[in-house]
Amino acid sequence: MLGFLQSAVLAKGGVSRNLCSARSSVFGEAACVYRPESSRVLSRNGVSRAQFSTKMMAEPIIDLKGKKALITGIANNRSIAYGIAKALHQAGAEIGVTYLPMNDKVEGKVRDLTLDLEPSLFVSCDVSKPEEIANLSEEIKSKWGTVDIFIHCLAFANREDLTGDFVNTSKDGFSLAMSISTYSLIEVTNALVPMMTDGGSIVTLSYLGAVKVVPNYNVMGVAKAGLEASVRYLAAELGPKQIRVNAVSAGSIRTLASSAIGGIQTMIKHVEANAPLRRATTTEEVGNTTAFLASDAAAGITGQVIYVDSGYEILGATIEK
Ligand SMILES: NC(=O)c1ccc[n+]([C@@H]2O[C@H](COP(=O)([O-])OP(=O)(O)OC[C@H]3O[C@@H](n4cnc5c(N)ncnc54)[C@H](O)[C@@H]3O)[C@@H](O)[C@H]2O)c1
Repeated sequence: MLGFLQSAVLAKGGVSRNLCSARSSVFGEAACVYRPESSRVLSRNGVSRAQFSTKMMAEPIIDLKGKKALITGIANNRSIAYGIAKALHQAGAEIGVTYLPMNDKVEGKVRDLTLDLEPSLFVSCDVSKPEEIANLSEEIKSKWGTVDIFIHCLAFANREDLTGDFVNTSKDGFSLAMSISTYSLIEVTNALVPMMTDGGSIVTLSYLGAVKVVPNYNVMGVAKAGLEASVRYLAAELGPKQIRVNAVSAGSIRTLASSAIGGIQTMIKHVEANAPLRRATTTEEVGNTTAFLASDAAAGITGQVIYVDSGYEILGATIEK
């Protein structure tokens, strides 16, 4: 039965085959078992691929047991970082969380939200303050000793720089966006590398606006372009230490940060109507790909930007229906 299902998956090719082999390489052959209802998808007369991918997403396909993962950028349950933290936890990673101490309530909110993930490290860290990055590094050193995975999932720009004309971007607004959204990857990575003694995986979050003009994304597009270039420089430099550095370029998702971008809701609707997969991106999808990149299943991948955007990035033009 298993052999039949596997060959059926292989015959279908594409994504299914890749997921199946990623799964096999991590868990061995037996992990590539499908529940009976999943096998309907493999039948010749076809059941929706969406059903298949939902099924695949619902089951852990990556093994991160024994790995310690530091996740930045959880603000609330819509945060991409929260989706990533859940995926890493589901794959067996030990979780460490940082939060931005914006006000007295944030710590309690993030603590409550992440309770189920049982974080063994919980640290306040404003990346605009070098002393807080130094404190984070000390906390990791004393509580964990080493770290295997660093998820950089944060960004900031003034609201006025995310709407209107790019040419009006102020020098201060430019520096702020670059410093928090881009330089922080370099600075925190530098603090963590001495503790990545057994190699490691660093994943940051980017967006299409890094390489194409997206209305109102403006200064953040420049920051993300710098972020993607930083990924390549860091990957080249840290590769000999077996530390991999990649970016996930996520499709538009409604979050606190994205709500500052003028017209985001319209863009999400446009993606739903036009992206090859005809739906918007979910934090679960981003979480699962990030977990893959963090895992040994992605051991040969570094310096890359992986699009998790329902395929929107491949489109050159769309026609409104
Ligand atoms: N939402 C989207 O459509 C989308 C798409 C692609 C990429 N991204 C990227 O994903 C990442 C996470 O954003 P999100 O959409 O989940 O929004 P979010 O608002 O949930 O997360 C942004 C996080 O950045 C943190 N942050 C801001 N300034 C900080 C500082 N000085 N120090 C430490 N943390 C700070 C916030 O506390 C928050 O947790 C960002 O890099 C964003 O650019 C988002």
